[in-house]
Amino acid sequence: MKKEEIELQIKKIQHWRHQIELPYGIVTPGFINTKKEWALYEIPNDLYGKRVLDIGCSDGYYSFQSEKQNASDVLAIDDKSSLFWNQGSAIGMVREILNSGVKFKHKSVYDLDKNKLGTFDFVFFLNVIYHLRYPLLGLDKIRQVMVPGATLLYKSYYSKNIEFKLFGKLVKIQVGKNPLVQFYPSNELAGDFTNWWGPNIPAHRAMIESSGFKIERELKRTYDRIYYKCIAV
Ligand SMILES: C[S@@+](CC[C@H](N)C(=O)[O-])C[C@H]1O[C@@H](n2cnc3c(N)ncnc32)[C@H](O)[C@@H]1O
Repeated sequence: MKKEEIELQIKKIQHWRHQIELPYGIVTPGFINTKKEWALYEIPNDLYGKRVLDIGCSDGYYSFQSEKQNASDVLAIDDKSSLFWNQGSAIGMVREILNSGVKFKHKSVYDLDKNKLGTFDFVFFLNVIYHLRYPLLGLDKIRQVMVPGATLLYKSYYSKNIEFKLFGKLVKIQVGKNPLVQFYPSNELAGDFTNWWGPNIPAHRAMIESSGFKIERELKRTYDRIYYKCIAV
């Protein structure tokens, strides 16, 4: 594809999430500094022989980067529930531009099935769990397509306080060490009605560990996001 053609294609997508390097030095105008994020996950430089699964892939950076680093098979899935998908398939467009072998399937995490897909060595599960109505079912489904020793890269929103109204007054509980989860029945979290849950940090840990994973390391914590490297046990 010619440079002008690529630039024209990119303009068709109004809201890019990921910055993805394309030919001619073109980078998609996403708001996430994906290169910086990628470095956090300590992914081996050479993924030869490895199978990678990218759940809730959005524009697909983590899939394309895995392919760039030699992964033998990359599957990207997304149920397209995010409003970003209304503007068209950015991942489809990038696949074409890069002539990529990344497989994209319009599928939910709940559809993961070991008998159909086999198992994966690296699974990206980034910023998806709080979008799931059934987060523990999601984690169970993921664990089922991984063998012991496989790596789960996990990132999520977390809540600091649990809030509720009691006799008309807003009560905030400092969460401390108890695993607690805030429920957002409508669009209370960031105005996005696809956000359902805000686990606190102990709840994230407990949910991951109760689903057959060991948290190897907390990779990073920002004011509202937690990053973990987890190993299937
Ligand atoms: C906040 S975005 C995160 C995108 C990417 N993983 C990242 O961290 O940059 C959440 C994505 O998960 C997708 N998603 C939400 N629920 C899903 C589900 N049940 N199965 C698969 N994907 C889902 C949405 O469509 C959206 O593209």
